[in-house]
Amino acid sequence: MALRTVFTELLGVRHPIVSAPMGGAAGGELAAAVSNGGGLGLVGASRADADWVSDELAIVSARTEKPWGVGFLSWGADVSAVERALEFEPDAIMLGFGDPRPFLPAIRATDAKLLLQVTDMAEVEDALAVGADVLVVQGAESGGHGARQGRSTLTFVPAVLDRAGTVPVLAAGGISDGRGLAAVLALGAAGAMLGTRFQATPEATVNAAVHAAVAAATGADTERSSVLDIIRDAPWPRRWTARTLRHPALDRWRDRETELAQDNSAKSDYRDAVRRGDYPAEPVWAGEAIDNIDAVVPARELVESLAAEAEAALLRATAGRTAE
Ligand SMILES: Cc1cc2nc3c(=O)[nH]c(=O)nc-3n(C[C@H](O)[C@H](O)[C@H](O)COP(=O)(O)O)c2cc1C
Repeated sequence: MALRTVFTELLGVRHPIVSAPMGGAAGGELAAAVSNGGGLGLVGASRADADWVSDELAIVSARTEKPWGVGFLSWGADVSAVERALEFEPDAIMLGFGDPRPFLPAIRATDAKLLLQVTDMAEVEDALAVGADVLVVQGAESGGHGARQGRSTLTFVPAVLDRAGTVPVLAAGGISDGRGLAAVLALGAAGAMLGTRFQATPEATVNAAVHAAVAAATGADTERSSVLDIIRDAPWPRRWTARTLRHPALDRWRDRETELAQDNSAKSDYRDAVRRGDYPAEPVWAGEAIDNIDAVVPARELVESLAAEAEAALLRATAGRTAE
């Protein structure tokens, strides 16, 4: 049984699996490996400049003949970087977190499919209004940034499906194995986007300490907050918080964001701690579905095993049997 969906048909991929465009973690090597495994690999350009985009997209386009794409942060990306990306003829452009309109003329002048990541119902309405080809519906379990008052994937995805009509929906947030993929397919989603799981691959551009931390932690060790954005002076709009692993600064400043925002010495203490090596350079972005991530697995292999596990889970469910 192949997991064919409207999404696999639309993008011409074998499996309904997409690797998230993780800023700082998903370069051309990861995207190419995911695409070669039969998923859709996305480069995480976030708000990188056009030169970085060129370097990474040269890598992905050289390493795979399969469909691939690239994702940007709408609140921070330059139209010129998106235009540069389009010169590499990606099969998909994903935008999220902000107004997609400034980028649409350039994207719509090409054949790239437009994936819009949405974190609440207002964003869903907006994404449908601008003609998204695919909605990526992100629940609050997700790693990295997401809605401050986010919905759970299990309830948000069906609510969006009831609104989306024929527009394919991918579920994102809290999916890290084939059972999760099977669950969202059973809800009616056309596939899943996974971030945290793909961070634990050798192709992700994160260091060994991040791999070790992700492998050791459980969902209970993750927390959604603005503290680490504020203390790093990150320019993220406050309506989106980030889910990360535990961090001493979170324990110190939890529920005191307004005070922290005005405390320049706390921010310089944080920078000093990073310089001394007491804190990691970046927080470890990770989602709730981290419990079962205990090994670093090559991305191509991971895509294939996620698809096989999902098929097995769906067969078990329809046969009315329980997992062995
Ligand atoms: C390390 C990391 C970095 C991320 N960076 C971005 C990003 O730059 N742009 C973006 O749209 N989403 C980003 N995300 C969120 C993903 O797009 C996706 O919604 C999320 O990973 C899904 O949840 P999961 O981590 O539980 O799989 C990031 C997620 C992680 C884990």
